[in-house]
Amino acid sequence: MTEESVVTNYHLEDDQLMDNTIRPESINEYIGQEDVKENIRVFVEAAKMRNEPLDHVLLYGPPGLGKTTLAFIIAHELGTNIKTASGPSIEKSGDLAAILSSLEPGDVLFVDEIHRMPRYIEEILYPAMEDFSLDIIVGSEGNSRNIKIDLPPFTLVGATTRAGDLSAPLRDRFGITSKLQFYTVEELTDIIKRTARVLNVEIENGAAVELAKRSRGTPRIANRLFKRVRDFALVKGNGIVDLAITEAALERLKVDKMGLDNTDHELLLAVIEKFGGGPVGIDALSSSIGEEVTTIEDVYEPYLLQMGLLKRTSRGRIATDKAYEVLGLKKQ
Ligand SMILES: Nc1ncnc2c1ncn2[C@@H]1O[C@H](COP(=O)(O)OP(=O)(O)OP(=O)(O)O)[C@@H](O)[C@H]1O
Ligand SMILES: [Mg+2]
Repeated sequence: MTEESVVTNYHLEDDQLMDNTIRPESINEYIGQEDVKENIRVFVEAAKMRNEPLDHVLLYGPPGLGKTTLAFIIAHELGTNIKTASGPSIEKSGDLAAILSSLEPGDVLFVDEIHRMPRYIEEILYPAMEDFSLDIIVGSEGNSRNIKIDLPPFTLVGATTRAGDLSAPLRDRFGITSKLQFYTVEELTDIIKRTARVLNVEIENGAAVELAKRSRGTPRIANRLFKRVRDFALVKGNGIVDLAITEAALERLKVDKMGLDNTDHELLLAVIEKFGGGPVGIDALSSSIGEEVTTIEDVYEPYLLQMGLLKRTSRGRIATDKAYEVLGLKKQ
């Protein structure tokens, strides 16, 4: 990465600390994603009425849209515990067996980045998801045997930024699949105001709307930008987040009117200037701007596509007329 990017730099410790205070706990505090919420409300209610575990849930969508938050909310609404694991961290069958056998009946097991779970672990997971049983081989070579362990009924909630990378048999074992969408400016405005309230910071409506417009449809970015702007308000102003402070701060953070940051600009500029506007293959683009293919595909591209700045064709990525316009460039 060439310069600090507002979009990708989200695994910062202070952000995570803040995350825990501002993360909504109940479904009624979770703003937006109305269809997803409505479905979850119904399925949770039905599971409780039948006194059965909720069907397995797959949540997918770009980073920062609230998948982890929603997983915790599902457990909260079910009134159960949640255990968490991440796909790449489950390396041995014993790891998975240990997690699964620690569950209480009805608990939620949240597996983040589920597309990065090794295939042989997936295969152990299938019977666990279907019949709540675990078939594992114990012992060493020559002296190994199969054992079958009954598991408490549980709900697997999987999250992924790339549903396409999930194997078909795994995908088919989720009864509920929900795709999270980018948030509207109105929804992000509400999220920012809620965060301000929780953190006891005064924010003017116009400032909240401006932040919302520049948050790439993403609550995590909205909250992060809010936090940076709050710092500016404290040091350069009187602590109140108003429009002038917000605009000045966003300028310093190099977030443009549409919420695009340095890397977005670099990416669009590369397509236009180095590859004649495209089509350009993702690998060529990746080496040209020094970002991983997966980062481009998961983090940057979805929003650029959504905003109509970039188009994906079978021959590669193309910059749209709107991209030229936004960058103030003339099409050759
Ligand atoms: N619907 C929402 N309402 C209010 N705040 C939200 C909402 N969705 C997300 N947030 C806030 O945005 C932050 C990021 O959300 P979360 O960590 O759940 O995203 P994610 O989809 O799991 O991202 P990743 O793919 O990177 O794991 C949370 O800390 C939470 O405070
Ligand atoms: Mg997450």
